[in-house]
Amino acid sequence: MTEEIKMKKVGIIGVGSYLPEKILTNADLESMVETSDEWITTRTGIKERRIADKDTATSDMAKEASLEALEKAGLKPEEIDLIIVATITPDMPLPSTACLLQSKLGAKKAACFDISAACAGFIYAIATADAYIKSGLYKNALVVGSEKLSAFTDWEDRNTCVLFGDGAGAVVLAPVKEGGILSVYLGSDGTQADLLKIPGGGSRLPTSKETIDKRLHYIKMSGSELFKHAVKIMADAGNKAASILHFGCDDIDWVIPHQANIRILKAVAKRMKLDLKKIYLNIEKYGNMSSASTAVALAEAVKEGKIKKGDVVVLDAFGAGLVWGAMLIEW
Ligand code: ACO
Repeated sequence: MTEEIKMKKVGIIGVGSYLPEKILTNADLESMVETSDEWITTRTGIKERRIADKDTATSDMAKEASLEALEKAGLKPEEIDLIIVATITPDMPLPSTACLLQSKLGAKKAACFDISAACAGFIYAIATADAYIKSGLYKNALVVGSEKLSAFTDWEDRNTCVLFGDGAGAVVLAPVKEGGILSVYLGSDGTQADLLKIPGGGSRLPTSKETIDKRLHYIKMSGSELFKHAVKIMADAGNKAASILHFGCDDIDWVIPHQANIRILKAVAKRMKLDLKKIYLNIEKYGNMSSASTAVALAEAVKEGKIKKGDVVVLDAFGAGLVWGAMLIEW
């Protein structure tokens, strides 16, 4: 194969993250709904989560994470060709949060759009940016997972309100000489869409007094049904992304998973025959931040010096849709 027609390698050249300062602990939740620190800790692994203040929207958190990622990448906002924001909690239905972020950053030449793939959104967005850069259409991309789930959480529903938190993570993608994205595996199953949804406020059930009275603008979840899918699907996705390269568990240095439940992640590790120590965990501090979970976990694992040059990292996520995705990256 000649140098000209060889596929470009695309890698992550900068990471960033942002977490709101306000911490909501399990003890705080005990005074809001009928729950206990013991139930939340043993059933989910979550101890606390961050909550954005009322003046902070998804694009504001995205901006902070992006500025850090751009600085690490050594790029100015105006040098960015493409911005993709993965979010299910946009500032508003339109325009896209990516356009709002573009304006905040002054990233004048970027093409911008959002991706809605729930907790797998960050992986879908990286896979999309990877394809754009490999095609030669764009030289680089800023990819962000940012969520203000607290704005869509029913704070009277103990089944869901103990699970979610707010935050943002960002990466800059560009061609690299060594390493980079090695394999991508994405999947969806729309027949299970009812398991996790925000039923009100869209074109199916536009906002009305009735939708508000019935609290249909909040997240509704069939937790135990999702749990079973999550374990099987995350393990399968991780294995499939690795098997494209004929990689086994010994070839993997780190798994950066979506952080929905510690029991899911323990079961995934077992199914993938992976030492739990190879799975990066921050669920205890942040809960489930949907698309931002994988993004923040990746940024923190890099910033903490856990991921080193040459390491093989697996991103692996599952969420509402159902959607799932996994990818292998050589760091
Ligand atoms: N405090 C105390 N009790 C509670 C609480 C709470 N916060 N929440 C539920 N319970 C009760 C239930 O009412 C139920 O009581 P009952 O037996 O008297 O009816 C009991 O605890 C057990 O409830 P389950 O829902 O069966 O509990 P489970 O062990 O399944 O844990 C959980 C629930 C944590 C939600 C788990 O099912 C889970 O993590 N599911 C997967 C979530 C997921 O992966 N989501 C996809 C990604 S998220 C995204 O895309 C945005």
